[in-house]
Amino acid sequence: MEVVLWRLLPLLSLLASFLFFLYLHHPSKQVSHNECSLLFFNHFWIISKRIVTPQGLISGAVEVKGGNIISIVMEEEWHRNSKRGHVIDYGEAVVMPGLIDVHVHLDDPGRAEWEGFPSGTKAAAAGGITTLIDMPLNSDPSTVSPDTLKLKIAAAEKRIYVDVGFWGGLVPENAFNASALEALLSAGVLGLKSFMCPSGINDFPMTNTSHIKEGLSVLAKYRRPLLVHAEIQEDSDSNLQVENGRDEARSYLTYLKSRPPLWEEAAIRELLTVAKDTRIGGLAEGAHLHIVHLSDASSSLDLIKKAKSSGDSITVETCPHYLAFSAEEIQDGDTRFKCAPPIRDATNKEKLWEALMEGHIDMLSSDHSPTIPELKLLNDGNFLRAWGGISSLQFVLPVTWSYGRKYGVTLEQLALWWSERPAKLAGQDSKGAIAIGNHADIFVWQPDVEFDLNADHPIHLKHPSISAYLGKRLSGKVLATFVRGNLVYEEGKHAPAACGTPILAT
Ligand SMILES: *[C@@H]1O[C@H](CO)[C@@H](O)[C@H](O)[C@H]1NC(C)=O
Ligand SMILES: *[C@@H]1O[C@H](CO)[C@@H](O)[C@H](O)[C@H]1NC(C)=O
Ligand SMILES: [Zn+2]
Repeated sequence: MEVVLWRLLPLLSLLASFLFFLYLHHPSKQVSHNECSLLFFNHFWIISKRIVTPQGLISGAVEVKGGNIISIVMEEEWHRNSKRGHVIDYGEAVVMPGLIDVHVHLDDPGRAEWEGFPSGTKAAAAGGITTLIDMPLNSDPSTVSPDTLKLKIAAAEKRIYVDVGFWGGLVPENAFNASALEALLSAGVLGLKSFMCPSGINDFPMTNTSHIKEGLSVLAKYRRPLLVHAEIQEDSDSNLQVENGRDEARSYLTYLKSRPPLWEEAAIRELLTVAKDTRIGGLAEGAHLHIVHLSDASSSLDLIKKAKSSGDSITVETCPHYLAFSAEEIQDGDTRFKCAPPIRDATNKEKLWEALMEGHIDMLSSDHSPTIPELKLLNDGNFLRAWGGISSLQFVLPVTWSYGRKYGVTLEQLALWWSERPAKLAGQDSKGAIAIGNHADIFVWQPDVEFDLNADHPIHLKHPSISAYLGKRLSGKVLATFVRGNLVYEEGKHAPAACGTPILAT
């Protein structure tokens, strides 16, 4: 025994001096600025042959100082320029404004085991997302009052790696109470969200058009949007659910038929009866309606087009899963693909792409809505009982790009759908574009680098196994992500400290 110890002694003293060295270099546990970033500099230049700006693609340099973009120069000018600080040369890699995902469920506080702020925002950073707006439900409690918003903000403190804003909930309990809504909006939510069908969460009941009309009139004063889950439960095959046998419940077709396009169409038709209040001169001028996760590209979309041309202040988003998948390819029992509204047939998917390319769909969002694998019922495969929600956050960029290439999607369109328009919806004037004065929210990626999304791939989401994209080969590798000038992610590594900013409306 003594002999062994004797031999270990040099090793132990080495270890002791190493620990002492560590102690000297980390005298306290306080977060220093450097821990927020993998880069040591506060003032630096990002150069690339392909920088996506609102004026188009340029070859040049972006100067970042104190977290903001302070200048942008073209390549020729850059070569004439002698004042150089630290320079990061990304060569041919694409430099774009950070993605802004306006529809994310991080389930924190209360259901952090489903996702949570740390893993969710790490996944976002790894996917080029620099800001996300958290939905008011699937956390516990739901964000429907100033007090519940405080719980959100407290849960986010020092636990977010990217910037995070919050939507509040418009629910029957607060909809007819203007002072309750005003208190919630004054507390800093960026807008409100409501459901026209059951949300699946007990403390987030559905609203009808009377609630929505009242909500819009309060939102008008604050010039903030109402986001609506537009499906109305009409009588349909869903009533047969109870009688379904095991095979039927495992069949994707059974689930698809239980939520027909008619549900979306009926909801949007009703919604448009109050949407006209948002017109110039209307009762709720200044408010804005945003329809989340549109799946039906037929009658529902026609109604939205008509409302837009009538002057309603209305926008619509769809999600990568509706653009990547079609009902025909979803295997029975593969509940990773369950979401509401459902993923429809291939013809519908083509029409969604067409509407997106033609500008009738304004933007994209992930609707990242994970849960614990147990509730996805992956073994049982029961589509009727499984938790509905697609897990995707980290992969929305490569998915949009990989599936969009054959439709001719450009880098500028990606920036429009994923940055510029979402920033506008969320009222973030200093985000959404690589422009002087904006936050230095930037990511760098290689559109042509392919990867297999399998178990070997570093997935930062809490539950990789439930992601619908697992097993896919995708194109588009994120190299680096900057949030307000902090290099928060680079080549698989995150900054040690979570220094994202909670975004509150003022
Ligand atoms: C309206 O909301 C305010 C603030 O939350 C609350 O104090 C008040 O009791 C509510 N009024 C009604 C009628 O529920
Ligand atoms: C909406 O529900 C409320 C009760 O919460 C009711 O007073 C109102 O009449 C309903 N409006 C419509 C259009 O159904
Ligand atoms: Zn959602």
